[in-house]
This record gives sequence, structure tokens and C-alpha cells, in this order.
Amino acid sequence: MDWTIDRMPSMQGTTAIVTGANSGIGWEAAKALAARHARVILAVRNLDRGEMAKNRILSEIPHANVAVKRLDLADLRSVQAFAEDVTAQEVKVNLLINNAGVMAPSYQTTRQGLELQFGTNHIGHFALTLRLLPTLCSGRGARVVTVSSMAHTMAKALDISYLRGHGRYRRFTSYAQSKLANLLFTYELQRRVQRRGLAIQSMAAHPGFAATSLLDNGMFARSRWVRPFARFANRFAQPSDMGALPTLYAATYPDLVGGEYIGPLGGMRGYPGVVRSSEASYDVDAAQCLWDVSLELSNIDVDDWIALADDM
Ligand SMILES: NC(=O)c1ccc[n+]([C@@H]2O[C@H](COP(=O)([O-])OP(=O)(O)OC[C@H]3O[C@@H](n4cnc5c(N)ncnc54)[C@H](OP(=O)(O)O)[C@@H]3O)[C@@H](O)[C@H]2O)c1
Repeated sequence: MDWTIDRMPSMQGTTAIVTGANSGIGWEAAKALAARHARVILAVRNLDRGEMAKNRILSEIPHANVAVKRLDLADLRSVQAFAEDVTAQEVKVNLLINNAGVMAPSYQTTRQGLELQFGTNHIGHFALTLRLLPTLCSGRGARVVTVSSMAHTMAKALDISYLRGHGRYRRFTSYAQSKLANLLFTYELQRRVQRRGLAIQSMAAHPGFAATSLLDNGMFARSRWVRPFARFANRFAQPSDMGALPTLYAATYPDLVGGEYIGPLGGMRGYPGVVRSSEASYDVDAAQCLWDVSLELSNIDVDDWIALADDM
């Protein structure tokens, strides 16, 4: 039987954080979780857009318990401030959805000087997840869902030197590398929490091709000539609520063990289930290397990570 949001369990008593929840797949996921009685924190870089997103949820789901908090994944100080705020304010967090993303913009850097796609899509979420680990562990079991993309298959292997900014910037190569990094991180996190016996599951999802603002905000931003192309391309995409199903399945389907990759069973579109990612994404050495580099680039040192884990 096809999996739809009607099959989502009650999320009563749980708290979920969704990054990039003001639009697209993140907004759909936040709304569906709120409809199932989760308390949902919309983690957004622009508070006005966040409040508008919250009001749009409330207009459809009057009982929704939704809060808006500022998180700019392209600034590690903002990530740290967000994590400290959540840690201080929330007793527990049961679900972290690492959804926010940018695709193929012109060359830009994060506040700390990393290429924007790698910095936002991977490093920001890496730092956020590690800083939230103690809070994620304080419940009876938590999930971290990281949203990747079929585009990860365009990266035949992780290229750390490219991600560090050596070599000419190629916007799609960077996007593909950042989405491969999402998967390597997902699987490495699962191995690490499993080794430590922590009550966390780490899984990845991808939406297929869904009509959202991703094209407009990334490669077509500020280009009025090619923007109509984005609108045209989106006509071939599935609606954003369908695009959110793999994320919601990864977040709530009871029979998952961690380390799964969830996507539309039809590839670009359709209902979700467990799918396979590229061979490169299962490369354990690359995942460990990425982990070490990510600790360094996100200003979390090894002692911090061990202290975070030991606190749990
Ligand atoms: N749509 C697809 O077909 C597709 C396919 C494969 C993968 N994906 C993945 O799905 C995820 C969601 O994208 P979407 O399609 O829903 O696109 P979207 O509507 O453009 O949503 C992206 C979200 O990320 C937020 N964001 C961007 N940079 C951020 C930052 N520095 N800090 C915090 N938030 C930031 C955006 O905020 P603003 O509104 O403030 O810009 C927006 O809320 C992404 O990870 C994307 O790579 C999408």
C-alpha cells in the first residue's frame, strides 16, 4: 500500500526541529508533523518569512504548536546560538530534520569563508546536529533526518580538496558534492551513535523532483531572463507535499533501524520507500575523512564531540 501522511503515527508529546521550514519541502514536513500534534520549531534564517510560514500552518492546522527560531546555516555563530537556545529552552528534541539547502548559486561563501553550498548544506547541518546531540539524546529515542538529493550521484567520489575551495568553482559539482556529503554524514553518524549505544537513529531522504523555490533561489536567483525556465521546469515536478513524503517517512516510519535512505520508489516521483544511494556514499573511509574535516571546519574539536557524547 502506498505510504501517505495518513499513515503517519501520532507525534503527540514530541518536539521536532525542521531547518528551512519556511518554504517547500521543509514547510510541508513541518505542517504534517504539526497536524500530527508534534511541537514543531521552524528553524529559519529570516524571522519574517518564518512567522509567515507559521501563520500559513496555523491557518490550515489551528491546533498546531509551532515556534519560529532564527538559524542561519551559513554562519556557524548562528548555528551555535540556535543550538544553545534550543538546549536551554527545550527539555528534549525527538526529531531533527536537516532540510534547508541551496542549489547551484553563483560563487558565494559562508560567514566563515566556506563555499556556500558545502557550508550550508553540509557543514551547517553537521555543526547543528553535533551541538544538539545531548538534547536529542535526552528523550527516549530520536531521529536525525538529513535531506540529500539524487544529484549526489553526479559526484563519483568525495573530493575534500574541492570542498575546501581548491580548484575552479563549478556550481553543480559543488551541489553534488554537498549532497554526497549529506549521505556520508548520515551513515557515519549512524555508525558512531550505534557504537556508543546512543538512542539516536540517523537516516537520509530525498524528494525526487518537487516543485519548490530551490531553482529560483539558487541558480536562477537574480536572473530575470532564466527565471521563467524555473517555473517551466517545475511544471514537470511533483507537488511539494509529495516531495515531503520521503522526509516524513524517514522521520516517522516505525520499522526503520537507522542508516536507511528514503526516496520516491519511482525515482523522480511517487510514494516513498527505502532506496539505495550511490556506491560512493557508502565509502567508510571517505565518511571518516569528511567527519574529521567537518569537525575542523565547524570549529568543534574532537574533545568537544567526545564531551558531547560522554554527557549523554
Ligand atoms: N525540490 C527538489 O526537487 C529537490 C530535489 C532534491 C533535493 N532537494 C533538497 O530538498 C531540500 C529543501 O529544498 P526545497 O526544494 O524545499 O527548496 P526551497 O523551497 O528553496 O527551500 C530551501 C529552504 O532552505 C532555506 N535556507 C537556504 N539557505 C539557508 C541558510 N543559510 N540557513 C537557513 N536556511 C536556509 C531556505 O530559506 P529562505 O526561504 O530564507 O531562502 C528555504 O527555507 C534541500 O536540501 C534541497 O537540496 C530538493
